[in-house]
Amino acid sequence: MTDPLLALRPWEAPEVTSWGRLAMNAVDRRAGALSLDGDWRFQLLPVPDAPVGGVWSSAYVPGAWTMQSAGADDPPQYTNVRMPFAEFPPRSPAANPTGVYEREVDIPADWSGRRIVLQVGAAESVLLVHVDGRPVGISKDSHLAAEFDLSSVVRAGERSVLRLTVVKWSDASHIEDQDQWWHAGLTRPVLLYATDPLHLADVDVRAGRDGGLRIDCRVRDARGALPDGWCVSAELEGELLTQDREFDRVNAEDERVSDFLGEARIRTTVPEVRTWSAETPELYDLTVRLHRPDGTVADTSRHRVGFRDVEIVGRDLLLNGERVFVRGVNRHDFHPLTGRTVSYEDMRADLVLLKRFGFNAIRTAHYPNDPALYDLADELGLYVVDEADIESHDHAHEIADDPRYLNAFVDRVSRMVLRDRNHPSVVIWSLGNESDYGAHHDAAAGWVRRHDPTRPVQYEGAAKLDWAATDDASDIACPMYAPIEDCVAHALSGRQTRPLIQCEYSHAMGNSNGTLADHWAAVESTPGLQGGFIWEFRDHGILQRVSDGRPAGRAGAGLYGNGVTAPGHRWAYGGDFGETIHDGAFIADGVVFPDRTPKPVLYEHREIAAPVRIECHRHEGIVLGNHQHFRGLDWLAGEWELSLADGRVLTAPAELPDLRPGETAAVPLPFEVPRTGGETWLTLRVRVAEDQPWAPRGTEVCVPQVRLRGPSVSWDVPVDGVVRVDDDGLLVHPLLTAAPTLSLWRAPTDNDELGGIAARWRDWGLDTLVRKVVAVRQDGGRTTVDAQYAGAAGVVRHRQTFTPVEGGIRVDEEAELPEDFHDVARVGTVFETVPGPDLLEWFGQGPWESYPDRSAGAPVGHHALPVDELFTPYLRPQESGGRHGVRRFTLSAPDATGLTVELDEPRQVSVTRFRAEDLTAAAHHDELVPRPGCVVHLDAVHRGLGTASCGPDTSLPYRIPAGVHRWSWTLRVL
Ligand code: GAL
Ligand code: MG
Repeated sequence: MTDPLLALRPWEAPEVTSWGRLAMNAVDRRAGALSLDGDWRFQLLPVPDAPVGGVWSSAYVPGAWTMQSAGADDPPQYTNVRMPFAEFPPRSPAANPTGVYEREVDIPADWSGRRIVLQVGAAESVLLVHVDGRPVGISKDSHLAAEFDLSSVVRAGERSVLRLTVVKWSDASHIEDQDQWWHAGLTRPVLLYATDPLHLADVDVRAGRDGGLRIDCRVRDARGALPDGWCVSAELEGELLTQDREFDRVNAEDERVSDFLGEARIRTTVPEVRTWSAETPELYDLTVRLHRPDGTVADTSRHRVGFRDVEIVGRDLLLNGERVFVRGVNRHDFHPLTGRTVSYEDMRADLVLLKRFGFNAIRTAHYPNDPALYDLADELGLYVVDEADIESHDHAHEIADDPRYLNAFVDRVSRMVLRDRNHPSVVIWSLGNESDYGAHHDAAAGWVRRHDPTRPVQYEGAAKLDWAATDDASDIACPMYAPIEDCVAHALSGRQTRPLIQCEYSHAMGNSNGTLADHWAAVESTPGLQGGFIWEFRDHGILQRVSDGRPAGRAGAGLYGNGVTAPGHRWAYGGDFGETIHDGAFIADGVVFPDRTPKPVLYEHREIAAPVRIECHRHEGIVLGNHQHFRGLDWLAGEWELSLADGRVLTAPAELPDLRPGETAAVPLPFEVPRTGGETWLTLRVRVAEDQPWAPRGTEVCVPQVRLRGPSVSWDVPVDGVVRVDDDGLLVHPLLTAAPTLSLWRAPTDNDELGGIAARWRDWGLDTLVRKVVAVRQDGGRTTVDAQYAGAAGVVRHRQTFTPVEGGIRVDEEAELPEDFHDVARVGTVFETVPGPDLLEWFGQGPWESYPDRSAGAPVGHHALPVDELFTPYLRPQESGGRHGVRRFTLSAPDATGLTVELDEPRQVSVTRFRAEDLTAAAHHDELVPRPGCVVHLDAVHRGLGTASCGPDTSLPYRIPAGVHRWSWTLRVL
């Protein structure tokens, strides 16, 4: 007999979003549930209707089979826009891996007479449920749970066989075409729970900043008609609020209650309520109980309530009446060992890290994230844009108006709202991503607005930067990757009708996020702009064993730390599992490495988001400001640090004034600024004063800085002597294995490559310049070398003048770039040092990596790091490890031998083990072979990073013009 679920062919029926599935609800069922996680019998079929009967292997639940040995024939595949198969919606490919999961379940004997429910946390992409061979239900949406009532198919005290069949490709795949790895399987926990037949079917809690609390409960009785005399009570922080004994009358009057459904409504006001915000995540414990007519408790649901308001007034999004800045990031459910499956601990670690780096918001790109994420966001304090699981990128324009998919759109959006609406952290509903704009969006927006008028709705496809937009599906203008100038123009146009919060901006692929500080300077100074969400949180590199090309697996062998993998492993990106259709390293575009090691951009972000800032005013002296929205400064402690160019560093505790949000005050300095010592910087190190849920006491929060005194001019004193150059005019020096030459090339960053910038450089021949010495002149002790560097599209003239000075050699350089070379990567010097000296100490910006357009978060000071720790191991090797604004550096060996370089001005410097060509040639970090010595770059100018891999290139001030560039440096042996 054909199985009725298979006979429906639900994988090619977009109209079928579910069958036999219970309505989504927000009742918490974790307490007392029976977990079905663990190893299940597993078979991978080639097509959904192939007979089951082969050999069983086993697969771990929760987990994608694509990440496990059971799925060795079906590895992960990465595509961005394009679908991995050719069939048009709603078709799926003939070859359609289908996982059959099976296990026995012993139904507890004490569940007799109870209503028994199966909850499948997530199944990708179609779920079919059978119990003892009997069809139970169907569900779609790979990122929301599905519940099925098993009461009529299982018996308490007996054993049943539960079979969950998961079909990988379906009509739904076409609306789950998000930019991420394709996986398949049961990716979130599976559990069974039992309730009384009289049960809470849903609980809807609304809590406002005025203390108003509104609880609506839907009640059902599995036996049929609700008995008379039931009631619902609510307890807040251990205190009984009120009981609704009025429901019958109220419901009868409203004619809203049928014989099987009841509603209970509780209304109260909490006096002197502590309001919830990302800065002050105050939560109240709420317990809702359903009582049988005799008063005993039939059902319980626990919630944590945050009292807060979200509203749009004019073109401002207000949280508790305040126009808050949205410092957001896009977050996928991703883990390098388990793919789509994320643990509570991992989610907590994600959010803790975001809090430490100044973020206050998350967009759940591009689907409802794991339920625990929202609990954590409530608790730690993060605003959430909750996004429905809809992206039809490859077939966008067809699907949003295709009537066959209408049901799926409304189903996905409404179920997300029903699941998450009690979370104070959720402040905005998003209708999905990159699915064009069609009638289905309006339908879904209509459902949300009617159902939850307490939050705005957004959808990028409906309102980008179109200030004359007449469409209605988005309350927020939420473009992606809009240039700063366009956002400002939009806000100044006089026609802006809604808040502008970019749903994605500042693409973090590789060495990126240039101009982030400029972006925020514009946001903070332009009414109408409120921030946005960086793309994205994490690099989706999968930990891969190099020997067999398989995902390394759950155990975690091969993880190493600091962003790199252990030997024999690598971070896999698109193409690394043998896929022919893939989009390469575009999957590695996060602000953290796959192992959650922060990338340098996070320090930039932390400083941009600083809650405390300082300025130096001519009359008042140092002025300190509280840049938060809701809090004072009492949770912070400070320490002053005075750094002088001569090497002195003075520190003293800082007294942070008692300031309300937005206030400033002049603060006295606890020390005299020395009259001598050259360039002088004052830094305020701000730390957490008392343990926070996301940071132990002492965690650094920001390091605002002001310059108190500029550099004093110093002259090198020429001395008698000769500088040796060889026949090619190259400097001969005992500590250098490669003499200083001109460098115009950097190993292209992802932005350089995908933005087409590196292609221009290659056309000009900048990667293969040929040096020819033209003249070597001797003038007293001074040696001048003229050289030419010939590329395909022009010749660069370069002059080096070597002068013996006290203790070393002064090098004056000049390069003349022809008009055609109007936007190169760098103009500067490169040389290589003998092995040995590998500790870098510098006076300049640091300690982390910084570049001209990403240097707001690297304070000037005296820094020191081993050379191997200077380099940032971006997944696809590229220009890395630079330090901006370096005035002086020393490279020394443990025996104190080495060299020191003094620069004429603050310059971009990098010291690594790799030549630009080494980095250019490698596709993965594990292919790099460090050189024994150091490769040193000091640049007169270095091009900004921008974000051109997806979004705007760097702006003009960070590009390098043609013409003459001059720079000087002095080299001394220690
Ligand atoms: C956006 C998209 C994201 C991601 C990003 C580029 O267009 O919404 O999912 O693809 O670009 O990394
Ligand atoms: Mg997309």
